[in-house]
This record gives sequence, structure tokens and C-alpha cells, in this order.
Amino acid sequence: MFDPVEKLKEFIRHPSVSADPAFKTGMTGAREFVVGLLSSIGFAVEVVHTKLHPVILAKRGGDASWPHVIIYGHYDVQPADPLNLWKSAAFEPEIRGNRIYGRGAADNKGPLMVHITAVGRLLEKHPDLPLRITFMIEGEEEMGSPSFPLFLEQQKAFLKTADFVYLSDTGIPRADQVVITCGLRGLVLCDVVVTGSRSDLHSGLHGGVLRNPIQAISELCASLHSPDGRVNIPGFYDDVLDVEPWERAELAKLGQSEEQYREFLGIPAFHTAKGFTPFEATRFLPTLEFNGIGGGYQGEGTKTVIPSKAFVKISCRLVANQKPEKIRELLYRTIRERMPTDVTFEIVDQHSGTPYVVIPPDRSNTPKDQSPVLASAFRAADKAIAETFGHPPLYLREGGSVPIIADIKRVLGLDSVLMGLFLPEDNLHAPNESFNLDVMTNGIRASEKILSALAGK
Ligand code: BES
Ligand code: MN
Repeated sequence: MFDPVEKLKEFIRHPSVSADPAFKTGMTGAREFVVGLLSSIGFAVEVVHTKLHPVILAKRGGDASWPHVIIYGHYDVQPADPLNLWKSAAFEPEIRGNRIYGRGAADNKGPLMVHITAVGRLLEKHPDLPLRITFMIEGEEEMGSPSFPLFLEQQKAFLKTADFVYLSDTGIPRADQVVITCGLRGLVLCDVVVTGSRSDLHSGLHGGVLRNPIQAISELCASLHSPDGRVNIPGFYDDVLDVEPWERAELAKLGQSEEQYREFLGIPAFHTAKGFTPFEATRFLPTLEFNGIGGGYQGEGTKTVIPSKAFVKISCRLVANQKPEKIRELLYRTIRERMPTDVTFEIVDQHSGTPYVVIPPDRSNTPKDQSPVLASAFRAADKAIAETFGHPPLYLREGGSVPIIADIKRVLGLDSVLMGLFLPEDNLHAPNESFNLDVMTNGIRASEKILSALAGK
């Protein structure tokens, strides 16, 4: 068997930034690397072409009576910039202490390596393991998986033979406290581009006769929240459901300190919607954020100009039961109503993602018709995680999004067991991303036990 840390280094060396066409070679390299690795542990690997980045589909078939698990992961990563803030090069993995640094180390190359290693070791011990396993590894997750729904439709007949989906692409609070993620937030994204005059203007010659587009954008943005920290869009919260008491109790078990969290974030004070703690807010509430804003002169010194254009990039995170289409409509209507009529503007659609919830077995709101294989996977995960990490997992909703999980539920009818593996200090999407090697070691052991229990071994 291969050494997972060495293999992870190799994986990180392929700069697989899906969003930037300049990284095509890195995408191909990362894909070929995964294809090679899965072939080496006995899988029949197919590269399924899409409009953009292909999906890797690797199968270990078997008797139709065996349970069938799909392991999901993504081989693409976020852009690495700003590069000057990295202590070691983003695509040259480096081990410092018990961490491996590099873009994608935690999201998602390390966690994916955990499962590939676990499967490899398990099949080495039990070549005749009565378990069907399919790896489904995409290359567009970090750009909203545009090709994935069509891929699911095309492969539906085969993929529907699975019992559930299993993955690690969510977070945990401490290296010894794993979380099984029971909810993912959805997303609605758009850009707003405001135009004032037909070209940039001298602010002395023309200042005072028109609304500056930066002012128009700022006024719009300022109107989208109320002072109590809530999103100020009529109807925004209409479909948000109360969470079950067991979910609040589970969250309380985390025992996190608000003060420590505040210090970790490096902020002077929280600004959280009224009635919710910061820990509840990220998991139970929807948000509206500004991800980027621009316009006018950004260079050294000064420039007395009235810019012709300004823009803002907006994203909303949605919680269970909110519909992306409806929120998009409410957001656009509000922007149209509030934008002053002395500027022109355009709203540019970006992607969306549906929120997702899965309830573990034996809870007040567990669906009566829950698949028995899914239920046994949850139970196996609970036991295996307690044995390897020293504590049973917590069952929590997550603030982040993996939109394809809801697509999988919609198209294939399959639920997901989401075993979180990355830590707050792993710096996902930020400079100096890293993955904790102790989590990696324990994760491999846990995953091996989970899959082995599913196979009845
Ligand atoms: N692995 C993350 C999702 C995530 C982040 C889960 C943090 C839990 C905590 C995933 O790769 C990701 O970054 N998703 C994006 C959405 C995507 C459509 C770009 C996200 O959540 O912003
Ligand atoms: Mn990810």
C-alpha cells in the first residue's frame, strides 16, 4: 500500500484551480493522479467528460445484495492568491509540526486521501469484501459544480443502485471532536453593476451634478441589513423553520467559548442577528454577504475622478426549506426597488445551491422511511469515530455549502453521511491552508472501520 502522506504531497503538487483556465494542466495532472491511485487499489476507473472539468467515476462492483456506497470528493481547489501571504509555496506541500501545508490540503485533497487510503487498506485485508464502492470525484466543486446535475442525470441508472453517499468536505471544532454534518447551507449569488456617466469624469468639472455609482452601490448595500443584524429583504426569513430541540442541545455540547471565537476571528465585537448566539447564527440562520466591491481609482496616491461604473458581488447563504429561486427573486426585486433611478444597473446571475438536511436515526424528526443502510452507516460512523477519536461525533448543521449534496438527493434520492474532518485553523480558501496529520491518521482508521462495519466485517 502507498503512504498516504506522500500521496497527498503528490496530489497537492498539481495546481488544480478549476475557476482559472490558466490552470488546465494542473487540473489534468490532478485528475490523472487520482485515476492512477484508484486504479492501483483495484478500481475500474472512467473519466466522464462534461462541458468543463471531467468527473472521475471509479467502480468496485459485486453482488447486487451487497450494500453500495458512493464516496464523493473533489479534485479541484480554490485559487491560491494572495500568493505573497503564503509562508511556503501554495502548490509545494510542506510539513511543519503535525500539519501539511498547501492549497487544497484540507479542501478537499487531504480528506479525499483519507477515504481512498481507508478503502485501499480494507480491500488489501479483505479482497472479497462484500461491499460495492463507487468513487465519484468531481473537478468543479469550487465553482459551484455547473456540470454536475447533468452528469447525475446521465449516470442516474447506475448511481441510483447505491444506498447512500459518504464524504468528508465539512468542518470539526477540535482535532479530537468529529462532527457528522446534518445540514449544509444553500447559496444564491449575483453581481450588481451600476453605471453612472458614459465615461469617467473629472470631479471638478462635473462633481455635484450626478450620483456617483459608488454612492449608489453603497446606499443599496447599506439598505440590505437592519441595525439588529438581520437581512432587510421583505420575505427573506418566511420559509426558515425552527430547529428541533435536539439540535440546540447538540450544539450546546460543543461547549465553545464566544470569547475565544471572537479572539480567533480577530474582531472587536460580534454583530449577530438578535436572539441567536454566534454559534447558532452560522448554522441555523440565512445570511447576505458582500464578497467584493469595486469601482473608481484603486492605485497609489489620489485621482479626482467620478467613476463611470461600480460593482458589488453578493451572496446569500440559505438554510433548510428556503428555496434558492424564491430568494433570488426577493433579492432582485429589492435591488430594483431600492436602486435610484438616476443611475443604470444590471444584475448578473451567478450560481445557486439548494440547502440540505439529513436527520440521523433515532431522533424526534427522523423520517419513518429512512433507508436501513443509511441508518446503519450513521450507527457505524458513531461507533467507529468514538473508538478512533476518543469521543463520539456531534451531529450538527454546517455553515458552509456543498450544493451537489442536495442535487444528489433530488436526482438520485440518496442521502449523505458527511464526516467532517477539517479544523477552523486549516485556513480553507485562505493563504496557508493546511490539514492536520493526526486527524488524517485517525480519519483513515475511522473510515476503514465504518466501511468494514457496513460490509458486516
Ligand atoms: N468544503 C467546502 C464547504 C465547507 C466549507 C463546508 C466550510 C464546511 C465548512 C466546499 O468546498 C466549499 O468551499 N463550498 C463553497 C461553495 C461552492 C459552491 C463554491 C462554499 O461553501 O462557499
Ligand atoms: Mn470542499
